[in-house]
Amino acid sequence: MPALLVLLVLALFPLQAAAKDNVLPPNAPTSWRKQCTSCHARNGSGQTSLGRMHRAQDFTSTAWQKSRTDAQIRKVIAEGSTKNRMMRGYGKAMSDAEIDELVAFIRTLDPAKSPAPKASTSAQKSK
Ligand code: HEC
Repeated sequence: MPALLVLLVLALFPLQAAAKDNVLPPNAPTSWRKQCTSCHARNGSGQTSLGRMHRAQDFTSTAWQKSRTDAQIRKVIAEGSTKNRMMRGYGKAMSDAEIDELVAFIRTLDPAKSPAPKASTSAQKSK
């Protein structure tokens, strides 16, 4: 019965796409998995109901990646967002090293960087 087959394929495809879209990257720190994915989604896209409701940015967008410096990302994680209280600060609960790890991880979500890392242009800022 071909119609049934078509239906089956149609039913399975979106599921597959959604799952692929929201996989936990292998390099994700435990803190990301435990504390950030409820809003930011496992892959950082912000595509969770909470993330969509509160307009969490899409970390998998190169445009977003370009629009923020490491220092800005770090500050929001440590101190929280002044624009949206849903994004609270983690500076008291996390060590500097943990926050650095999260910043570095978020940077790896840039699709422009994952296939072939560009030669580093800016000097790495040590704090
Ligand atoms: C309860 C939901 C929630 C959780 C949990 C959460 N965030 Fe957020 N986050 C948000 C929202 C909403 C925003 C958007 C705030 C804004 O527009 O300024 C945000 C913004 C951010 C930003 C800044 C984005 C930008 O464009 O300036 C970063 C970075 C960030 N979150 C990282 C994290 C990390 C890392 C964790 C885990 C330690 C985390 N968030 C946990 C909801 C959350």
